[in-house]
Order: sequence, then C-alpha cells, then structure tokens
Amino acid sequence: MLSMKSKITLAPFAAFGAVALLAGCVGDADSPGLEYMPDMYRSPAIEAYVDYGQDPYYFGDSLAGAQRATPSARLPVEGTIVFAGREQDAALNFPDPYPNTPEGYEASGLNLHSPIPMTQATVDEGKVIYEKFCQHCHGAKGKGDGQVVAKGGYPPPPAYDGPQLKDLPEGKVFHSITYGRNVAMGAHASQLNTKERWLVTQYVKFLQHGGQIPGQGTAAQDSTATATDSTATQAK
Ligand code: HEC
Repeated sequence: MLSMKSKITLAPFAAFGAVALLAGCVGDADSPGLEYMPDMYRSPAIEAYVDYGQDPYYFGDSLAGAQRATPSARLPVEGTIVFAGREQDAALNFPDPYPNTPEGYEASGLNLHSPIPMTQATVDEGKVIYEKFCQHCHGAKGKGDGQVVAKGGYPPPPAYDGPQLKDLPEGKVFHSITYGRNVAMGAHASQLNTKERWLVTQYVKFLQHGGQIPGQGTAAQDSTATATDSTATQAK
C-alpha cells in the first residue's frame, strides 16, 4: 500500500525529469541548450557593475539596447559627461575649469558665474541646503555665529555681510564651497553636486545683501547688482 502510493506520487516528477533532460539536449555543441526560466540565469534586476543587455541572442536588439542604456553602479568612461536631456543641466556636469590653487581661486572670482539665474525660488532651495550644511558654523544669518562656534569654541568664520566677505564675488564663493577655504572650512564637493553648490552660493549672496536678492534692494545695491547680473548674462 505504502509503496504503491509513493510510486504514484513520484511518477510525475520522474516524467518531468526525463523530459527536461532530453529537451535540454540540442545538436549544436556551442549552444548552452534550452534554458528553463532564463531570467533566473540572467536576472532582469539592475545589479551593480553588471552590463545587462550584452547578449541580443537572449533579449532581442531593441531590449538589449535599452538595457545597455540603463545606468548601474559602473563608473562612466573617463572624460565622458553626463547628458541630462536639458542643455542647462548638461552644462552643470562639465568639470570645474578652475583648479584648487590660489590662481584658480582668483580666476574663479573673475570669470566664474552662476549658470542658474537667481530668483526667489532658487534662493529658497539654497536656503534648505544652507540650513543642512552651513548654518551650524556660519549661523542662520551668516554672521559666523553658528552653534559649533558659539558652543564648540570653533574659530568663527567672518560674517558674509561684513567687510571681508560682503563683496566676495560668486565665483570665489563657489570655489570655496567646492574646495574648502584654508584649514577651517572643508570642501563640500563630495556632499553637494554642482547645481546644489550654485544654489547655496545664491543663498550666500542673499545673506551678503542683508537678506535681499541683489537688484531688488535699495538703489545703491541695485547698481552693483545690475553690473554683476549683466556680466553673468554675457558669460553664458
Ligand atoms: C566646520 C565649519 C564650517 C562649515 C560646515 C562651513 N563653513 Fe564656510 N567657513 C568656515 C570658516 C571657519 C571660514 C573662514 C575660513 C578662512 O578664511 O580661513 C569659512 C569661510 C567661508 C566663506 C568665505 C570663503 C572665502 O573665499 O573667503 C564662504 C563663502 C563660506 N565659508 C561658505 C560656506 C557654505 C556655503 C557652507 C555650506 C555649504 C559652509 N561655508 C560650510 C567654516 C565653515
């Protein structure tokens, strides 16, 4: 009785095994044979460092092409620039033309201008970044009195609207955020991408002008700001 029952239960498995063995055999010695559930061999999930879609034999040309264009954690080929669809965004991925040297700092001050026009919306975005990455040292209003300075005894940074920094050009602000400044301020290029560094630069400009967008303040601020703005437009 018992042996009878086990024969019946095993029969479908034996039959399936035989079919699977035979069906796996194909004439071509170079062929991997028929694959059951090929997605278990070639997972459709995006995995780090794997170049999906290499083999149009399994995927067909169009799907293989689409998968090849899917980013994974592989590094892009050296010297290539991410093209983000919009021309303005692609420009943000160009390498910084000014190196981390005193000459690069001076050249940034003269030639480097924000690719993003300053509006209330971009200032607001810059403020969010500032509150997360800068405020603890520089203080809410950029006076150099953040918690790290007030309670931690850290050397106070100069105020943005003080004599040393109020006329600091945006190119130098950007350069200092990217590479750091002297020993007391670290580089932020690994935490903030180019766009974020320009947005926070705009918030620094906002604080340099006493909490106003340059060009929208008093008459005196207007004239300076218009000069800066027209240079920025020409540079584009
Ligand atoms: C750990 C504290 C600390 C943090 C965080 C910090 N800074 Fe600074 N920052 C300083 C100090 C200190 C100086 C003065 C450095 C000097 O001149 O020696 C400074 C200088 C600067 C300057 C003047 C640079 C120049 O060219 O003279 C700017 C602009 C600036 N910081 C912006 C920022 C922004 C924007 C952030 C956030 C993305 C930030 N800092 C984060 C401490 C900090």
